[in-house]
Amino acid sequence: MKKGILFVDDEPRVLDGLKRLLRGMRNDWDVYFATSGREALERLNKEPVDVIVSDMLMPEMDGAYLLGEVMRRYPHTVRIILSGQAERESVLNSVRHAHQFLLKPCDMQTLKKSISRAGALSDLLVNERLKKVLSRIQSVPALPAHYARLIDELGSPKASIKDIGQIVSQDMGMTAKVLQLVNSAFFGLTQNVSNPAQAVSILGLNTIRALVLSVKVFSMVNEDDLQRYELTDIAEHCLAAGLLSKELAVMEHQDMNTVDEAFLSGVLHDCGKLMLAANLGEDYEAVVAYKRENHVTAWEAEKLVLGATHAEVGAYLLGVWGLPESIITAIMYHHEPEIYKNTQFHPLTAVHVADYLLRAMDISHTGEKVPSLSENYLFQIDAYDRLPAWWEAGEMMIQDDANAT
Ligand SMILES: [Fe+2]
Ligand SMILES: [Fe+2]
Repeated sequence: MKKGILFVDDEPRVLDGLKRLLRGMRNDWDVYFATSGREALERLNKEPVDVIVSDMLMPEMDGAYLLGEVMRRYPHTVRIILSGQAERESVLNSVRHAHQFLLKPCDMQTLKKSISRAGALSDLLVNERLKKVLSRIQSVPALPAHYARLIDELGSPKASIKDIGQIVSQDMGMTAKVLQLVNSAFFGLTQNVSNPAQAVSILGLNTIRALVLSVKVFSMVNEDDLQRYELTDIAEHCLAAGLLSKELAVMEHQDMNTVDEAFLSGVLHDCGKLMLAANLGEDYEAVVAYKRENHVTAWEAEKLVLGATHAEVGAYLLGVWGLPESIITAIMYHHEPEIYKNTQFHPLTAVHVADYLLRAMDISHTGEKVPSLSENYLFQIDAYDRLPAWWEAGEMMIQDDANAT
């Protein structure tokens, strides 16, 4: 089925340029144009679209307001800002409403890549139950303790970008958000960034300060959910999975980029659990109850109760945010890696194995069934014989951790 995309810009010249640029896409996309926010909303009222790409500064209704309305009325539409560098300050204000940020003038390759990725992700939304779950989720929440440390650091006259990078790297909500921004053409570089500390230093102290203090870009887990769903344990598990995934990638002599991606995939692999716990209320309660009563893994319970798993939810949102593809793959398939037909070591390999090892060795886990290791997958990538060495690395990490505390 053809997908719909709507471009909004008050300058007809810009729309004409886009029309020319997109001529070759007419087979796959129905392309619409609007010259104001009001016209865009009227268009959407007739027929919602899959993707909206809006200018920032427009008379009457600006892009931030327009995308805020679209978010409220049509939560499944992917929202992209396409704006000039001079509008940096106002673009910061749209950060809570837009998924991606492109820089004007936009080359065809970047534009097409963003659009087709958004389109591919919207195919996931054919699952009606997943669609329902996702419409209630906008962000990966940060942990209150990390947030407090960040505010302290930002308020200090000696605030250092290195310490802020350190704090952000410990928290998956903050990590996901800075990577979303730095991987966008507007705020970042042309190549993918997978290292949260590097992302923080690219954004710079002033941008981070504005994002945290005035735009309030990080959402937070509330204390009740934190206790009730043991979210600190989930966050600690993810951080450990990040460190072990990184270690496994180093052991397998992967390049720097894959090592960073393995770390990041590990840190974010269960971020969907935080999203579900912080946004679904009673429905999540039912997942937890089902898991306890039936002694199944979290993702099996989620699939049965909600019709969607934390892996799908996390992969979808981070995908719409434009995070690097290999990380989305690793998150999406971390429980069933054999579905992804790779034949070599991949961040997915690291995360799947690290997740299993940590849970299999963890003496403090809360009675949840340990997720299984896919031996077929290890044969598929010809790495079955590496398992004893990986197991040893996991044991050493747990031992070091125990010695440190
Ligand atoms: Fe998981
Ligand atoms: Fe996990």
